[in-house]
Amino acid sequence: MLNDIAYVLLSAQEIEKRVSEIAAQINSDYSGKEPIIVSVLRGSFIFMADLVRKLDLKCTVDFMYVSSYENRSVTTGAVKIVKDLDIDLEGKDVIIVEDILDSGLTLHYLKELLMTRRPASIRTCSLLDKPARRKAQVTADYVGFEVPDAFVVGYGLDYAQKYRNLPFIGVLKSDIYENE
Ligand code: PRP
Repeated sequence: MLNDIAYVLLSAQEIEKRVSEIAAQINSDYSGKEPIIVSVLRGSFIFMADLVRKLDLKCTVDFMYVSSYENRSVTTGAVKIVKDLDIDLEGKDVIIVEDILDSGLTLHYLKELLMTRRPASIRTCSLLDKPARRKAQVTADYVGFEVPDAFVVGYGLDYAQKYRNLPFIGVLKSDIYENE
């Protein structure tokens, strides 16, 4: 697996430090509140697990499984809900947790959708932000790192469902995906 990685973009240590900083900010912003943390599967599962363990809040977690890439490297443009939330969001403070903000179509769609459920507030948190590929007008309230327009995998991010288990974020060698 490691042979498929061109170089390490963000080490496990760098990620851990930044996740702690984001958690500290959320702890401060939501002091005394009980937010619902919404993990957008599958990509956010590792970030979510690390982030919530650093939150000193009586938060609730729930999971939404959406997909728009369908094993391709470019978004299909259509966001498909594979699994919806179980928790009622009405009157609640919601934080959507994503692994990456790329075209922005997923987060834009999710924010609009979850707003219709009348939460008290919605904020968004994305570990990575790739502004070069943005199509939808959306920004995240909490961002870990801005990344270049390279194919990044690891720490939850995949290529064709692989590489999610890498403990760091790396750039995939182009020959792995260029014959797609
Ligand atoms: C990835 C990622 C985000 C979304 C971001 O999900 O996890 O949810 O794409 O891209 P966008 O800003 O262009 O919409 P994907 O559909 O690949 O599913 P996954 O989470 O299962 O990897």
